[in-house]
Amino acid sequence: MKVAVLGFGTVGAGIYEMLSHAEGLEQGPVLVRPGKDDAPFKRTSIEAVLAEPGVEAVAEAMGGIEPAFSYAMAAIKAGKHFVTSNKALVAAKGIELAAAARDMGVGFLFSAACGGGVPFLHNLSLAVESDMIVSLGGILNGTTNYMLDAMQRRKLSYGEALKDAQKLGYAEADPSADVSGLDALRKIVLGSAVAYGVLPTEGLYNEGIENITAEDVSRIQARGLTCRLMAKCGPVPGGKVYAYVEPVLLKASAAECSVLDNYNMARYEGKCSGPMVFMGQGAGRWPTASAVLRDLSCILKDKFFMLRADCRRGSADNEACRHSYYVRLPGSLTGCFEVKSYSETDGQTELVTKPMSVKAMHEMAARLRAEGAKMFFAAFED
Ligand SMILES: NC(=O)c1ccc[n+]([C@@H]2O[C@H](COP(=O)([O-])OP(=O)(O)OC[C@H]3O[C@@H](n4cnc5c(N)ncnc54)[C@H](OP(=O)(O)O)[C@@H]3O)[C@@H](O)[C@H]2O)c1
Repeated sequence: MKVAVLGFGTVGAGIYEMLSHAEGLEQGPVLVRPGKDDAPFKRTSIEAVLAEPGVEAVAEAMGGIEPAFSYAMAAIKAGKHFVTSNKALVAAKGIELAAAARDMGVGFLFSAACGGGVPFLHNLSLAVESDMIVSLGGILNGTTNYMLDAMQRRKLSYGEALKDAQKLGYAEADPSADVSGLDALRKIVLGSAVAYGVLPTEGLYNEGIENITAEDVSRIQARGLTCRLMAKCGPVPGGKVYAYVEPVLLKASAAECSVLDNYNMARYEGKCSGPMVFMGQGAGRWPTASAVLRDLSCILKDKFFMLRADCRRGSADNEACRHSYYVRLPGSLTGCFEVKSYSETDGQTELVTKPMSVKAMHEMAARLRAEGAKMFFAAFED
């Protein structure tokens, strides 16, 4: 199967290279921007790519929603299978792409969009065919895991950890999607779509790590706990799902504490299979390209979809998920929470709340921050 590649950056160049020695797959043309067509296989328009004789599949690795979405629709409508590593595209337009692909009888797979090289969505999409998924989630962002790990083990400040992550190529020049938890949220939304047929677009919450300080880290460590940024999702009665991202405080025995550097750990729990854990490189040229190639191999074996035909947009309901939270905030705001315990040093209060809903915690934090409060919070793992 001849495969065209859209985008020739970190992932796109990796896909093109891997196609040269993949069984049953063949290198096709590559879409680059005008002026960057410095090799015979490069083209500068989607029309030229799709018109190339023999192209049967298109692998997108440009990023962003437009023009990626228009190009994807053009490819599908031209009868080409479509695979992508682009989580923003699938989170925003996955339902439309799946419907168009079903109409045209072509495949639409996106396992590289969640967890990079970690074969999480791939396995999840197989598991849902025979089992009920009780919950899913995990550490889905390598940049923030690297930063939290560096702050905890190497005692770096937030700024030092971020600079280090950028130097190593883990964090973008604009790291906001990573550190705000948005990147992990987009990924868990894809997991929800695969596991439950619901792609939630409302009612979602993402608390990232932007507000954690070296002092928070040492207080958390003094409690014998480790902080990880975790995404969580599961079913809620009434055909809804819960889906959110937040920092979580874990006991040393938790498997997530062994996830170091920029690694990811995704998990799902099947009603029959029990817990399944997938750990590996969540990003990088070769791990991500290998996941795209895995999708192309699935298409060769007639596995065309990871989204069910009835997958729909929906809203998340994070009311019923309840945790105790660790909160650091100005002492004057202690009364905003029902508190189990608290201590005060230098005008900053460190408190543990009574169990409260994810929705209530995230909304309280948004309200207090809008009023100018500087605070950090993290859930205690149940
Ligand atoms: N990097 C990873 O480890 C990783 C892991 C998992 C998923 N992903 C996803 O994979 C996708 C690609 O990521 P990446 O890291 O490979 O990004 P990248 O290195 O920035 O590569 C993107 C490439 O696409 C090109 N491009 C963008 N718009 C284009 C257009 N309209 N026409 C032609 N070429 C265009 C860019 O060209 P210019 O440079 O000229 O703009 C660039 O060469 C993203 O959706 C990302 O979220 C990446």
